[in-house]
Amino acid sequence: TAPIVLAMDGPSGSGKSSVSREVAATLGFRYLDTGAMYRAITWWMLREGVDVDDAETVGALAGKPELLIGTDPTAPTISVDGTDVSAPIRGREVTGAVSAVSAVPAVRARLVAMQQQIIAGTLEQGQGIVVEGRDIGTVVAPEAPVKMFLTASADARASRRTREVLDTGENATVSEMHADMARRDRLDSSRAASPLTQAPDAVLLDTTPLDKDGVVAAVLEQVRRTL
Ligand code: C5P
Repeated sequence: TAPIVLAMDGPSGSGKSSVSREVAATLGFRYLDTGAMYRAITWWMLREGVDVDDAETVGALAGKPELLIGTDPTAPTISVDGTDVSAPIRGREVTGAVSAVSAVPAVRARLVAMQQQIIAGTLEQGQGIVVEGRDIGTVVAPEAPVKMFLTASADARASRRTREVLDTGENATVSEMHADMARRDRLDSSRAASPLTQAPDAVLLDTTPLDKDGVVAAVLEQVRRTL
């Protein structure tokens, strides 16, 4: 497959992450989880005792932590100031704070620049890359030849998220996840700086009736059709 950027956007629980990793592994592409980058900066802010609702302080500190992100689809890792945070960034505390941090323009400016650098470097090496997030098709890689926007019903997304959280060893109920996702969706879609929206040229895929293999097949079909 030609070395291209595959943009995968959508809300949490749409199945983006597991599908993006599998598609990357199948195509022999790298994989960039931009949500993990917003989570990692949030983890650092919390560790420093920063009030994440204080946008001015968050913005002023956005350039401080040193982020290193791995792009191996089979073992995605991320570290902050040398600490591997791949596990703690999935926890409840970070999840509750990440939307506030990612709404701060200075945070987005820094991470989007990093993401564009990683993408350019990967393409230069003759490698393709699957990039997943909220603003990939609109802001990070508007020239991506393949853009997917994944959605699912609120119920399907809440039960997928519940399973993910339970897998990390924390407690979760479906109704709690419903409320948490509705809150995050509202914040992510209403923020002024690159809100979650479907790019006009993105292919909308409702994953509600599909299992993971079905979604992977639909995405691969779209790649095949585009190239
Ligand atoms: O994808 P994930 O659920 O891990 O993303 C966590 C949060 O990071 C999102 O709720 C959103 O606030 C933020 N995010 C973002 N832009 C991206 C990816 C994630 O604002 N490209």
